[in-house]
Amino acid sequence: MSWPEQVVRVQSLSESGLRAIPVQYIKPLSERPLFKPGSQFHRHVDVPLIDLQHLFGKDPNLHLDTLNRISTACRDWGIFQAVNHGVSHKLMTKARQVWRDFFNLPLQVKQEYANAETTYEGYGSRLGVEKGAVLDWSDYFFLHYLPISLRNQSKWPEQPSSCREVVAQYGCEVVKLCRTLQKAMSIDLGLKEEYIENAFGGDYMGACFRANFYPKCPQPELTLGLSSHSDPGGITILLPDYDVARLQVLNHGDWITVNPVPDSLIVIIGDQIQVPIVGSPPPFLYKYWYSIYCICVYLIQVVSNAIYNSVEHRVTVNSAKDGVSLAMFFNPKSDLVIEAAEELVSEERPALYEAMTFDHYRVHMRTKGPCGKKRLESLKFNTS
Ligand code: OGA
Ligand code: NI
Repeated sequence: MSWPEQVVRVQSLSESGLRAIPVQYIKPLSERPLFKPGSQFHRHVDVPLIDLQHLFGKDPNLHLDTLNRISTACRDWGIFQAVNHGVSHKLMTKARQVWRDFFNLPLQVKQEYANAETTYEGYGSRLGVEKGAVLDWSDYFFLHYLPISLRNQSKWPEQPSSCREVVAQYGCEVVKLCRTLQKAMSIDLGLKEEYIENAFGGDYMGACFRANFYPKCPQPELTLGLSSHSDPGGITILLPDYDVARLQVLNHGDWITVNPVPDSLIVIIGDQIQVPIVGSPPPFLYKYWYSIYCICVYLIQVVSNAIYNSVEHRVTVNSAKDGVSLAMFFNPKSDLVIEAAEELVSEERPALYEAMTFDHYRVHMRTKGPCGKKRLESLKFNTS
């Protein structure tokens, strides 16, 4: 396998001043963002905004109220904006600036980090290796943060000089937030507080980081910065572009634009954490729950209306402003087999998804590129 065509840096294309985008970036009509003059949205609803300050505070009522908000957001939306999330605003600003500075380096410096399709680690411009695929209007830098054994700082940018340090510090704070959310979700699901954290592999949990760069685009109505997809992992914590509302999420058939609140972080539920919610499980089931929160989600058909949902989302581009977003993806330990718990599968309640490791699962995104939630759908056993 290798990149099927010569990799073109979208930033270079954009800076070349072209008026019309090359044909390989033009999306089919049905995938283009619908720009309606004056109003971009079908429905005037916003993704939930949750203040996390009381999550592990002392007041039990406020704590419960926050848990309920998270619960509702994860079930109804699969995404929410978080404020008072504990990550230093200063560090967030620094992290974004460091990556903006990286993307503004001369091309030949960035090319030293050009990534390969086998690992994706480094400076990249496409997701997927299908020849002739329609491409997204963005460049990125992808790196492994956790587990420590996969962290290789020599593959992280040496310039700007503070980059490695800032990424390490930023990652550390976002990991803390992720642990807090894993606890909250475990409690909400009637599990022990440390349940999801352990199920992700504890200290061996995977965390990858991607800095996305969305260059200015002369024809934003024809393309996307990132095509529709659901994140293949567990939880994504995104530092969005605050200047331009770029991120859109699919909700009840409508693309809703997320209007980012300053200093917020966006929490996105990925495929591995689509969870059935059946209230507190009987105690004898506790030890089997680790596999339930994974892709075996619709195990109990009756509760399929009440699950944490991974959310389909995409990014639009803009003709006047470029943008940088930072995504941190938290994934189950890569060689953990994710499958339906045997004890919960019967003829009447068959497992609906194939068992596989996360490493195997994400190969799809890496070969086919982003394609909505087709991957998860394709893993459903044919039960008809
Ligand atoms: C992603 C993603 C959204 C954004 O990196 O998976 O969805 O706004 N990013 O950059
Ligand atoms: Ni995403």
